[in-house]
Amino acid sequence: MASIGIFDSGSGGLSVYRELVKLLPRERYIYFSDNAHCPYGEKTAEYIQDRAHVITDILLGMGADIIVVACNTATAAAIASLRADYPDVPFIGMEPAVKPAALGTKSGVIGVLATAGTLKGSKYLHTRGQFEDNVHIIEHVGEGFVELVENGILDGPEAEKTVRTSLQPLLDQGADIIVLGCTHYPFLQPVIERLAGPGVRVIDPAPAVARQTVRVLQEKGIPTGEGTFSIDLYHSGEPDSLQRIYQLVS
Ligand code: DGL
Repeated sequence: MASIGIFDSGSGGLSVYRELVKLLPRERYIYFSDNAHCPYGEKTAEYIQDRAHVITDILLGMGADIIVVACNTATAAAIASLRADYPDVPFIGMEPAVKPAALGTKSGVIGVLATAGTLKGSKYLHTRGQFEDNVHIIEHVGEGFVELVENGILDGPEAEKTVRTSLQPLLDQGADIIVLGCTHYPFLQPVIERLAGPGVRVIDPAPAVARQTVRVLQEKGIPTGEGTFSIDLYHSGEPDSLQRIYQLVS
């Protein structure tokens, strides 16, 4: 049985857990929400690296065999230093799904919603550079999206108003595919899809990340599929947000 550590600035990483548990239903999960330090989006890379190291030590101390950095912002800021400092630990990171969007667009315009930290990360800029000659890529920070999800406001007038403000500029420029580049955003996907309308596809990268996790566990020879499911939920701040979102995904 694999022990799978997962962390995020908050409850957003549960959108990745939701896909992992479909493929790996008999493992032990340890989820850490760093909600006392949420949001990560506007914090410095150094700050996020410090948090990622502290949380990695906690997850490894609890016996994690693999760590899923279920946060695009933490991946952008910290995965390279995590891999350098813990060379024996497999880390799985997040990346905005620019490639499938670029291959799938009919209008030639794709929109990426993510945090400021993710959009200025070198990995994102590199991926963007590979596709921007053929496809027009426009970005917007999902302003207030993380706060909506942490407060459990996943639909209704307030969610619609907040989502529209960041989504509309992408739609106005003709985006027919919207990439969700932050793990909190899939919890707003019903609102995003409704506002975007039927001609627009929304991509959540979590299923691909879950498949990648299965591949890495196999490569590392970490056995899966024979244990009993369990999950421990930890949080550095108040418990309500994590429990609310966990109920949605369980
Ligand atoms: N869920 C995170 C991400 O994927 C972080 C959001 C935030 O804390 O700003 O980027």
